[in-house]
Amino acid sequence: MKTRITELFGIQHPIIQGGMHYVGLAEMAAAVSNAGGLGIITGLTQGTPDGLAAEIERCRTMTAKPFGVNLTFLPSIKPPDYPGFVRTIIDSGVTIIETAGNNPAQYLPVLKEAGIKVIHKCTSVRHALKAQTIGCDAVSVDGFECGGHPGEDDVPNFILLPRAAEELDIPFVSSGGMADARSLVASLAMGAEGMNMGTRFIATQEAPVHENVKQALVAASELDTRLIMRPLRNTERVLNNAAVEKLLEKEKALGPKLEFNDIAEELVGVYPKVMQKGDLDAGGWSCGMVAGLVHDIPTVKELIDRIMREADELIHQRLASLF
Ligand SMILES: Cc1cc2nc3c(=O)[nH]c(=O)nc-3n(C[C@H](O)[C@H](O)[C@H](O)COP(=O)(O)O)c2cc1C
Repeated sequence: MKTRITELFGIQHPIIQGGMHYVGLAEMAAAVSNAGGLGIITGLTQGTPDGLAAEIERCRTMTAKPFGVNLTFLPSIKPPDYPGFVRTIIDSGVTIIETAGNNPAQYLPVLKEAGIKVIHKCTSVRHALKAQTIGCDAVSVDGFECGGHPGEDDVPNFILLPRAAEELDIPFVSSGGMADARSLVASLAMGAEGMNMGTRFIATQEAPVHENVKQALVAASELDTRLIMRPLRNTERVLNNAAVEKLLEKEKALGPKLEFNDIAEELVGVYPKVMQKGDLDAGGWSCGMVAGLVHDIPTVKELIDRIMREADELIHQRLASLF
């Protein structure tokens, strides 16, 4: 399939693996890129710019295809070394960056000068337009369904994607709730040029996470996620568990007085415990509603090949036969 996104990134299929903390390691990114999609290494998971440089090198030993790096700009009292991470991305020769979180405007000039393609992930049309204005090459439009941070507007993709298509000139991919050929064909119908998947890629053979996490996604239904940190205007969609229920009770009890410190116990240092040790109840960890559509743990290549084959069937048989 050829779209503006496959052309922009030099990839075979219009399928991107979104950056995921403690999931977007070299194994994950290389598997997606080798299968013809765009794999993404998650920058902050590597801890330091040197750690990221090493992970990029490791990924290069696993794939000759293009892959990208995610850099998430978080609200933080003690921010990570963002200028150092950006420098590492440029020096390493990576040609694609997925930015997320705060506006990446201050880094756009150096990234563009280095010839790096920038796809910014955003949860609203106004942020997507802003990304277009500051010079991003593409955006990833993340609907309310998504795992991770859906923003505060709560607009699902059936509205958000056509609205993005109405306003944007640069190409965009759908993100949030994407799992299969139906997601891809629907996204294309709504004006997207491809799709970004997070949660679905965790339940694959190559995802470098504990087996418990993969099984939890297969077992979960679309009713099993919760929104946390809404009172802090830093909403995150996570898989429900005992720690999340405790956190939500605190949010309810404290109301507007809630501060991050009140819920830090359920959130700080959780990812390595969940993703590496398989301790699913260690705290809140991102997961999309799309878990309800995850029923198996294929290889990444099986997943992507299946999506592309079924998308072809959907378009040329089911949809074509309706006319
Ligand atoms: C476990 C997990 C960790 C994530 N970590 C990040 C992250 O560090 N940075 C980021 O920009 N997005 C992160 N995301 C969001 C994904 O990149 C993607 O936008 C989202 O998962 C799309 O929704 P879906 O899960 O319904 O596919 C994460 C998602 C999950 C499920």
